Amino acid sequence: MRVLVTPDYRTLSEEAAALVARAIRAKPDITLGLPTGNTPLGMYEELIRRHRDESLDFSRVQTFNLDEYLGLAPDHPQSYHAYMRDRFFDHVNIAAENTHIPDGSPGRDADAECRRYEDAIRGSGGIDLLIVGIGANGHIAFNEPGSSFESHTRVVTLATQTIENAKRHFPNDANIPTSAITIGIRTILNARRILLLASDPSKAEAVERTLRDPISESVPASALRLHSDVIAILDESARQR
Ligand code: PGA
Repeated sequence: MRVLVTPDYRTLSEEAAALVARAIRAKPDITLGLPTGNTPLGMYEELIRRHRDESLDFSRVQTFNLDEYLGLAPDHPQSYHAYMRDRFFDHVNIAAENTHIPDGSPGRDADAECRRYEDAIRGSGGIDLLIVGIGANGHIAFNEPGSSFESHTRVVTLATQTIENAKRHFPNDANIPTSAITIGIRTILNARRILLLASDPSKAEAVERTLRDPISESVPASALRLHSDVIAILDESARQR
């Protein structure tokens, strides 16, 4: 794993967007794996700016998001469908039919949705560049500690810490989802290239364990060391001191 440390979050976001933009220019019909959460917000803003100011073209780009809460329909304001529309898709020239996010709608057969989603990724020819954040507990996508490195897209129960963290994004009286659909660790490792992003002191211990501890299912992100083409961009705040 190559590690790039930037002085601050803004530089992390610019470096991440520059890498993604280079990849799109090299392969205009690239398939991207996309994350949600706080960490990639600056990268999305910078990609939108590059679309507006530098004609970065998303018209042939395909995207697969990494996860979605179970029990939230795509029009739910806290769904990752809504996040992606608000924060990115509505601001660039991506075709709606080229964007893919697991459907966590209530009443849907979630296991069938997981199989459909994994098949759709495979059917697209696979993910060329997958961008992923890291949880304070070392999770990648919603692969919580203990997830098998051979896991594929599936329904998972969220860790208590993950649910606690999600609370700040939900109104006070909202029922916070306790489960999700996530692509698996094997799905992530199948991507041709991976970009790991980490910012914030809350991530420092997880980053340190990812880079230095023995590779283990207790630190899901450590699986990324099994992949031959991973770049991690951390800012100073995510470095242990
Ligand atoms: P965050 O989430 O970017 O909101 O910190 C990252 C993650 O939990 O994977």
